[in-house]
Amino acid sequence: MRMRGRRLLPIAISLIVIIILCISYIASPLRSKSQRDEFLVQLPPNSMEDNDSDQTTHLEHLPEVGPGPLLNLSNFDYLLASNVCRRAERELLAILIVTSYAGHDAVRAAHRQAIAQSKLAEMGLQRVFLLAALPAREHFVTQAQLMDEQARFGDLLQGNFVEAYRNLSYKHVMGLRWAASECQHRTKFIIKMDDDIIYDIFHLRRYLETLELSQPALAPSSAFLAGYVLDARPPIRVQANKWYVSRQEYPHALYPAYLSGWLYITNVATAARLVAEAMRVPFFWIDDTWLTGIVRARLGIPLIRHNNWYSANAEFLDCCVRDLKLHSYECEYFAGPNGADAKLLVEFLHNVEKCYFDECIKRPPGKSLKQTCLATVKSPAPEHGVAHVQPLRLR
Ligand SMILES: *[C@@H]1O[C@H](CO)[C@@H](O)[C@H](O)[C@H]1NC(C)=O
Ligand SMILES: *[C@@H]1O[C@H](CO)[C@@H](O)[C@H](O)[C@H]1NC(C)=O
Ligand SMILES: *[C@@H]1O[C@H](CO)[C@@H](O)[C@H](O)[C@H]1NC(C)=O
Repeated sequence: MRMRGRRLLPIAISLIVIIILCISYIASPLRSKSQRDEFLVQLPPNSMEDNDSDQTTHLEHLPEVGPGPLLNLSNFDYLLASNVCRRAERELLAILIVTSYAGHDAVRAAHRQAIAQSKLAEMGLQRVFLLAALPAREHFVTQAQLMDEQARFGDLLQGNFVEAYRNLSYKHVMGLRWAASECQHRTKFIIKMDDDIIYDIFHLRRYLETLELSQPALAPSSAFLAGYVLDARPPIRVQANKWYVSRQEYPHALYPAYLSGWLYITNVATAARLVAEAMRVPFFWIDDTWLTGIVRARLGIPLIRHNNWYSANAEFLDCCVRDLKLHSYECEYFAGPNGADAKLLVEFLHNVEKCYFDECIKRPPGKSLKQTCLATVKSPAPEHGVAHVQPLRLR
């Protein structure tokens, strides 16, 4: 009898929690019809990716993701370490981890100008930039300057491996591992992005807040990965291409589905699993393909598809800024490349915020971006190197 009682207690507690969550979900003023439709999260129909075993691991059962060697970098250490998560006064909604070439100090300045740390903090967010060691050929920025930048902002996380395309996977794992250990119990979500991406942080925040209510089991689960899904693509086998991959590096004809590293969303529990699994999988230098594709597939974590958030054309986001200023039209996209214009993020975020105070209007029929913004396609598609291989589909 005592055994039975002990088993029933957790079940009863779980039931009560579920009932409370359902009531608060139904009663929430956020749940207007349009928002439900807009933010409904759909798991991909491709059930091959779906694997529900072990998808509800709780934080207590996670593998250790502390300091120490990073993959096969046995003497890995931080040159600069941020403590933005430890400093946070209450649990964050999300930590933004932004891949940034160490020499891109002007790009980071644009990010801070677009949205300051204090404003992020008010929104329950924080941000760190992921850097590596300056390469010898870097003549404009010095480590002393980076130390100065860290003293002012405290938002740099710099590993001691050297900045290089082929070291991006180290940087990516470094960021996920740091977020999963430093921010464990301190943040709900992790947003990984590149520093040359425009992103609507107000949209992302609303999405995550809504997700917590609408998908109370998914949001904290150890199987949460959402972003721009690239379905089974072939590796680029053209040697002249920057993204050329040899058959030794990757022998298979197709990559598993993966998320574009432009911007994707995960959480602490999922990041910890990816990092732990990455140690058991042969290293592959294309970071998003490796971590959110090859490593993820081994864990059977499904991908949540938000491809309609993204524009591959920087021109569209440029036109969005123009139309936000002139007509207060809502932007159809929430993320995309900046087209090598770091200031575009400043303009975009400063102008899009009003839409979250109901001060914007939907684009009238006949005024879609496709019709009013004649984009000349020059930006790359999210998949590495695809622009060289096939024409970009205008969306
Ligand atoms: C799900 O993954 C587990 C191991 O992680 C495996 O044993 C099982 O066969 C998988 N199920 C499906 C339906 O793929
Ligand atoms: C780590 O692994 C990569 C890929 O296999 C290899 O190229 C590199 O030399 C290794 N680095 C060290 C420090 O062992
Ligand atoms: C990657 O980092 C390692 C460790 O710092 C360095 O030895 C190597 O040269 C870097 N890779 C490239 C391609 O520069």
